[in-house]
Amino acid sequence: MPDNTSTATLSLGGKSYELPVHSPSVGPDVIDIRKLYAEADVFTFDPGFTSTAACRSTITYIDGDVGELLHRGYPIDQLAEKSHFLEVCYLLLYGDLPSAAQLEDFETRVTRHTMLHEQMQYFFRGFRRDAHPMAIMVGVVGAMSAFYHDSTDISDPWQREVAAIRMIAKMPTIAAWAYKYSIGQPFVYPNNRLDYAANFLHMCFAVPAEDYVVDPILAKAMDRIMMLHADHEQNASTSTVRLASSSGANPFASIAAGIACLWGPAHGGANQACLEMLREIGTVDRIPEYIARAKDKSDPFKLMGFGHRVYKNFDPRAKVMKSSADEVLALLGIEDNETLKVATELERIALEDEYFVEKKLYPNVDFYSGIILNAMGFPTSMFTPIFALSRTVGWISQWKEMITDPEQRIGRPRQLYTGAARRDYVEVEHR
Ligand code: CMC
Repeated sequence: MPDNTSTATLSLGGKSYELPVHSPSVGPDVIDIRKLYAEADVFTFDPGFTSTAACRSTITYIDGDVGELLHRGYPIDQLAEKSHFLEVCYLLLYGDLPSAAQLEDFETRVTRHTMLHEQMQYFFRGFRRDAHPMAIMVGVVGAMSAFYHDSTDISDPWQREVAAIRMIAKMPTIAAWAYKYSIGQPFVYPNNRLDYAANFLHMCFAVPAEDYVVDPILAKAMDRIMMLHADHEQNASTSTVRLASSSGANPFASIAAGIACLWGPAHGGANQACLEMLREIGTVDRIPEYIARAKDKSDPFKLMGFGHRVYKNFDPRAKVMKSSADEVLALLGIEDNETLKVATELERIALEDEYFVEKKLYPNVDFYSGIILNAMGFPTSMFTPIFALSRTVGWISQWKEMITDPEQRIGRPRQLYTGAARRDYVEVEHR
């Protein structure tokens, strides 16, 4: 395992401090400041964690400058072309690609856990019909800790394994039922004859009154969407899961926290916000107005689906997603759609615009995913739940890694306090 190869020297107040420097297997070196406060009585300041590595991890690597994403070393474009979602799940969870027998066993285990406890239906029915499906997912996933007591002891490796499989298996059912409930249709039970992605489409679009045959091209596109969202190292929702579970919270509660974080428009909520923005722009001639707004510092508007904290080059997931979008739209015969024209032209203009070029703002994964999901028949409110069900494996893999990490401690950031210094209480009549 790569470790300290050198030290960095910090000079402060006439003293100097030697800080160990860790070398990763790939990527920039990391200065270890863990003993800094104890030795030098100072904190470091890094809101948004732009320069802070919060953990060691062996799961996912991103090189934002060249637009590279690796899962356990395998490039995302190779996985998207040659693998499938459950195989990527295995890779993320266990560290290596499975043998045929290991994959079969894993698929069987996931498939056997797709049903929800029947009583959980009452949670769905307790929500208003117009509730956002993400609100339902936060609630129902949190409620899993009230149902699956036999997999909440995080000190037991077997229980951790069962919790992991349960969440990967049940999340599509939860997302599909949140959707069914919102449109007033009966819940459709999982069908174990179908693969993971096809089963999800089936639970979303089948009704008891008719036969529903899942189109294999759409199932493949759905599987690819899931693969492209499976993990993304220490992003906001993953860090939320790690922080929540660092206190010893159970996995269902911790993943519910991750879902809540993902919902925001700067993160997973961007796919919904992006399609709504494309619809609001409406026609190609209105694009310059929105580009001008995005550049205007006094306007909070941002071009949704553009920019990324880490990628300062094309998001490699977006490249694959774009080609998948072309395939799906061709299949469904909707290449000539106004929203698509706006998206294509917006992408062209933004990629040439000086502001976007200078700030290295490229389309991200959320720019194209909504176009495909919309074409498949999903309402915009389902876009982020689909992101959540796909990212569940990433959250769980990172959670499993954290639990067995000997360096793991409760997450407890410090602060740069700028409030009042000590002062004495003043009686109300004297204020
Ligand atoms: N439109 C216009 N300007 C932008 C945009 C945008 N989409 N994104 C960043 N900028 C500007 C920003 O105003 C800032 O300008 P200045 O340097 O003059 O202050 C500069 O670019 C750097 O941006 P930042 O906000 O400091 O970057 P960040 O790393 O804090 O935020 C981001 C990254 C993804 C939150 C942000 O780019 C954004 O809000 N994008 C739109 C929402 C979006 O598409 N999110 C999905 C991200 S990918 C999937 C996921 O993570 O879930």
